[in-house]
Amino acid sequence: MSDFAVEGVWAAPGRVNVIGEHTDYNNGFVLPIAIPHTTRASVGRRTDGLLRLASSHAGAEPLELAVADLAPGTLSGWTAYPAGVVWALRAAGYDVSGGADIRIDSDVPVGAGLSSSAALSCAVALAFNDLHDLGCSRVELARIAQQVENDFLGLPTGMLDQMASLGCTAGHAWFLDFRDLTGSHIPFDCEGVGLRLLVIDTRAAHALVDGGYAARRASCEEAALLLGVPSLREITDPDAALAALPAGPLRMRVRHVLTENVRVLRTVAALRAGDVRAIGPELTASHASMRDDYTISCPELDTAVDTASAAGALGARLIGGGFGGSAIALVEEDDSGAVAEAVEKTFAARGFTTPRFFEAIPSAGARRLS
Ligand code: GLA
Repeated sequence: MSDFAVEGVWAAPGRVNVIGEHTDYNNGFVLPIAIPHTTRASVGRRTDGLLRLASSHAGAEPLELAVADLAPGTLSGWTAYPAGVVWALRAAGYDVSGGADIRIDSDVPVGAGLSSSAALSCAVALAFNDLHDLGCSRVELARIAQQVENDFLGLPTGMLDQMASLGCTAGHAWFLDFRDLTGSHIPFDCEGVGLRLLVIDTRAAHALVDGGYAARRASCEEAALLLGVPSLREITDPDAALAALPAGPLRMRVRHVLTENVRVLRTVAALRAGDVRAIGPELTASHASMRDDYTISCPELDTAVDTASAAGALGARLIGGGFGGSAIALVEEDDSGAVAEAVEKTFAARGFTTPRFFEAIPSAGARRLS
């Protein structure tokens, strides 16, 4: 590691999605913020076709391999992300075959649903874009990072996390329309109005997470096909569409997506009107929709949301893919300690792993540090 040739350091943040869950792959609306926690990639180009990877993360073994040998399905764990970026760039026709030394360090909590893997891919993609003068836009880099998940690792995720990591700006939530990837940065200042956006990492990781995500996505595609629309976003009469679907899971999945898009629009309207407190009920309704219609919650997430709400939170919801990971709670600054304490106590009483708490402060997207 000490002989790594470093030409620069790039940082990419994790994300918290304020609202708009499982809407990205349905061409819908999302509203993420970047968090202060980042993954840093120290990168230098090589000329011998070798990729050398190292990480300061506890237990992360270094890896050396030939760029020419990179192929989907050959790597797992943290090395798959930086290596996958190099593979995806080559697949897109960019000449990065000379190889690189890549050293990673990160303070994005792993396994908390805060997009530590997207942060890793995005930091490396941005580094290659700069070092090789590839001229890729941030959207193109997000697509490269998404291909790492979809094509290199075989995970059918959308592009929310990568877009958030690469495109969010400090002090703002990014209102993004996945139909055409246009968006606007909406001022989002909790502290300025005496609020806190608390992240509750439940530390629950469910084994079914990948299969559950893929199944939800497949249901949405099946419903769109049945309804004769290219995506659920193209539904113009929600009531008629829901009535046309068989009662049961398919109708419930679609109802979540349709109502979630409306909740994003209401949240954006409230923020634009400067009324941050008014987004609370939208957050809680989003959670109920994911729990009851999309069925992606779990006891730990429900406990976090219910306990936070009972302790005074203005709104709370699970974030990300579901089945574990983190929830957010919008709380009055003065209540934030009591909310965290109540959640911690209830977790202990129910025999759950002790949760972790962070404050989500809207921070800058990916950037070069040196
Ligand atoms: C995960 C995926 C995203 C998105 C969210 C749910 O974070 O990576 O693409 O689908 O789940 O909104």
